[in-house]
Amino acid sequence: MIINVNSVDKIGFVDLDIDNNLDLPAEIKRLKKEKNAIILAHYYQNSEIQDIADFIGDSLALSQKAENIDADIILFAGVSFMAETAKILSPNKKVLIPDRNAGCSLADSCKYDDFKFFLKKYNGYKVITYVNTTAEIKSISDICCTSSNAVKIVNSIPKEQGVIFAPDRNLGNYIKSITGRENMVIWDGACHVHEEFDLEEILKIRSKYPKAKLISHPECKKHILMISDFIGSTADLLSYTIKDGSNEFIVATEPGIIHQMKKASPDKVFISPPPKATNCGCNECSFMKLITLKKIYLTLKYELPEVIIDENLMNLARLPIKRMLEISK
Ligand code: 13P
Ligand code: SF4
Repeated sequence: MIINVNSVDKIGFVDLDIDNNLDLPAEIKRLKKEKNAIILAHYYQNSEIQDIADFIGDSLALSQKAENIDADIILFAGVSFMAETAKILSPNKKVLIPDRNAGCSLADSCKYDDFKFFLKKYNGYKVITYVNTTAEIKSISDICCTSSNAVKIVNSIPKEQGVIFAPDRNLGNYIKSITGRENMVIWDGACHVHEEFDLEEILKIRSKYPKAKLISHPECKKHILMISDFIGSTADLLSYTIKDGSNEFIVATEPGIIHQMKKASPDKVFISPPPKATNCGCNECSFMKLITLKKIYLTLKYELPEVIIDENLMNLARLPIKRMLEISK
């Protein structure tokens, strides 16, 4: 079948009917082999996607993997800024994302023009940006970070040097409290998924499971972090549940990670706190969940949509990512 590239560009993914009896995991495996493709997936992907991925990780591990990949095609099961980072680090590879609409509310909270205007007020400050940003924002940053290495990255800059931290205000404030860095200016952005966790709901669960440990991602609000037993990136939360002697965990991050937690510790109990009772929202990342097995299959088959970034922009955006990777070795 011939695919209309314009229509893929317009709607953001390959929209074709497929035979309902198709064994998608088997077909994906066959296409990966045929095309020498590799699938990278973030921990927030649906379980069935994690199960067919070649590599699963948090934002840092996925960037490290994307830099040194031996394949012709990288299919990124995650959101756009992650696929962009993979393309920037492996510009000669074809990078595919199964749905271009997989954005990020945190990246959206930091628009290029607004950020450029903001930077003018802080001339001479070093600009640290979380990888959850567009390539344009990275192109005007000095160094990137992820939730795994933010403390290390901030500490790599001399104490007397003013720094800007963007875009997540919760992670920024948390890092500021750990590093004691007073000369750190924080952009006022947030991730809708982590901001939704509600103290009251968590306390209700705590009274039901008094022995459970509360483990939280630093993108959660301060009052949640203050009562947490452990705070860490997605990968750090996973290793904590493996090493810690407790049997019950309240997991304050996107619940996709619970799939790996259960696989690693099948006898332990993992509870995902619901968002505010008054809110009909959900604690899943709707952007991450746009990726489906069907879209992965069609993307591999037609090699669309492809991540294409202007070469100059890629060259500029690569510098802060490479600095981060160098310090994180
Ligand atoms: P990490 O992968 O660094 O834990 O970040 C979580 C996140 O929100 C990714 O979108
Ligand atoms: Fe962005 Fe939040 Fe979704 Fe991560 S969980 S991709 S930060 S919206």
